[in-house]
Amino acid sequence: MKYLKSLGIKDLAGKTCLLRIDLNLKSLSDQFRVDAVLPTIKYLLSKKTKIIILSHRGRPVKKESSLSLKPIAKIVSHKLGMNIKFIPELDLKKIKKIIEADNKNKVFMLENLRFLPGEEKNDAVLAKQLAELGNLYINDAFAVSHRKNASLVAITNYIKSFAGLLLEKEISGLTKATRNPQKPLIVILGGTKLEDKITIIRNLANKTKYFLFGSSFLNEIKDPKFVNLIKNKKIIIPVDSVMAGNSYFDIGPQTANFYSQIINSAKTIIWNGPVGKTEEKKYSKGSRSILLAITRTKGFKVIGGGETANFVIKNNLQKKISLLSTGGGAMLDFLSGKKLPGIAALERSVSAKNKNL
Ligand code: 3PG
Repeated sequence: MKYLKSLGIKDLAGKTCLLRIDLNLKSLSDQFRVDAVLPTIKYLLSKKTKIIILSHRGRPVKKESSLSLKPIAKIVSHKLGMNIKFIPELDLKKIKKIIEADNKNKVFMLENLRFLPGEEKNDAVLAKQLAELGNLYINDAFAVSHRKNASLVAITNYIKSFAGLLLEKEISGLTKATRNPQKPLIVILGGTKLEDKITIIRNLANKTKYFLFGSSFLNEIKDPKFVNLIKNKKIIIPVDSVMAGNSYFDIGPQTANFYSQIINSAKTIIWNGPVGKTEEKKYSKGSRSILLAITRTKGFKVIGGGETANFVIKNNLQKKISLLSTGGGAMLDFLSGKKLPGIAALERSVSAKNKNL
C-alpha cells in the first residue's frame, strides 16, 4: 500500500486529488468525522493541490434532498475557513467540465455518491468516470472501507491510489491493538446486537485476557444461541445492573468498580459500544466509569463505534485516547479479522506501486 504521507510538494503541486472521505454524519451536530479528515485536507492544500471531495451520506435508494451533502459542504468549508464549491450535478461529464473550467476554487465537493446507481454496485464505468476527474486518488474513509463501492474499490483500478492520513492512522492503531498487542489485552464490548460481536470474540479470543460485556447483553444473553458464550471464562458479564421494567439499561456500581480494576491492569484496551444507554444521562454512569478507568491507564487505548466515540467527545477526553476510531461497522469488521475491501483494493492497486505521478 502507498501512503499519502510519502508524497511531497514535488509530487503533488498542481495535481488534482480525488479525496474519498466519510461524511456520513449521524446528525449535522456530530462532526467528529469532519474533524478527523481536516488534517488530510490541510496537508493536500499545503502541497498546492486541487481537491475533489467524494463521499456518501445515508442509504438513499434514489436522489433524496434530505441526504444531500450540501449542508455538510458548508460545515467543512466553515471549519477550513475557505470556500468549498459544492457541485450538485450528477452527470460526471458535466462535473468534469465544471471543475476544469474553474480557476478560482481549490476544493470541490461532489453530491452524495449513493445518488448514483453504480456506487454501491462497485460499477466499473462509474469508477472510471470518477477516476478521470483527477490525477490521483486518496482513500481517507476508513469508516466506509468495509463497503465494496465504486469510489472505494473499483476506482483503484483506474488511478494511482494512496491511503490518506486518517486511514493510515486507523489501520496502524487497530493493527497495533489486534495483531500483536501488548498484553494483557482487555476488550470491552457494549451496545446491542451481541451477534455482531461474536466474530470479534472468535478472532481475538487467543490474545485477549477478558471480554467485558455491557448491560444490554443481559437482555440478549438469554437467547439459547449464546449459552456457550457465557461458559467461556474470558467472558465477564455484569454482576449488578440498572434496570427499568425487565430491561437492563446500565451496568451497576459494583460492576463498574470491578471492570475498572481489570482495565487498570491492561496494557492494551479496545472498547466498542457503550456499556449502558448513554443517550440518557441517568444510564451513562457505567460508561463514564469505564471511560475514566481507560484514560487513567498507561496502556494503548482504542475506542470506536459511533455512540462510543461520541461519548468520549461529549466527555472531552478524546486527547487521552490513543486511537478514537471513526469506524462503526468498519471497526467491527476489522476487529473480526475481516479484510476490508477498500483497504484490500489499495494493497492491490498496481498503479500505486509507482510513486511518480
Ligand atoms: C457508517 O456510518 O458506518 C459508514 O458510513 C457506512 O455506512 P453504511 O453502513 O450505510 O454503508
